Amino acid sequence: MENIFNCNLVELQKIKNRAGNLSVVENSNSIPFDIARVYYIYDVPGGSDRGGHAHKDLEQYVIAVSGAFDIQLDDGKNKKTVRLDRPFLALHIKKGIWRETRNFTSGAICMVIASHKYDYQDYIHDYEDFLKFRRNE
Ligand code: TYD
Repeated sequence: MENIFNCNLVELQKIKNRAGNLSVVENSNSIPFDIARVYYIYDVPGGSDRGGHAHKDLEQYVIAVSGAFDIQLDDGKNKKTVRLDRPFLALHIKKGIWRETRNFTSGAICMVIASHKYDYQDYIHDYEDFLKFRRNE
């Protein structure tokens, strides 16, 4: 059973040169699961909250490729909030963790690298169902 203390920030390789920086996430190298999907969230209106769900099996790396936002993680017992504000840091959200994303700066881009393709059945949208899922796991 995963808990929020296992969801850590991972420092990605940063290749610097005069013309800027490049960070890379590569299967079998900088990520502990195989990449099945990448999506990104942008044009988030100031003050909006996103997330508010958990995944039964999906794992993710979440990266603020531009700007910043907060992610609150909750394992049913403990909560912690992580501010993502550097393009070379990935937050590893393990399976079975409730997350809420808040306080996007204007123009922020949230890139998510995911272990599975999109599957509606993998979502838990209701917080009481999430607590039941955690108790039964
Ligand atoms: P959702 O995962 O709920 O986004 P957030 O947690 O950031 O609020 O997804 C929002 C909508 O986009 C929802 O209708 C499902 C759809 N969606 C896809 O069709 N494919 C995807 O890969 C993802 C992540 C979402």
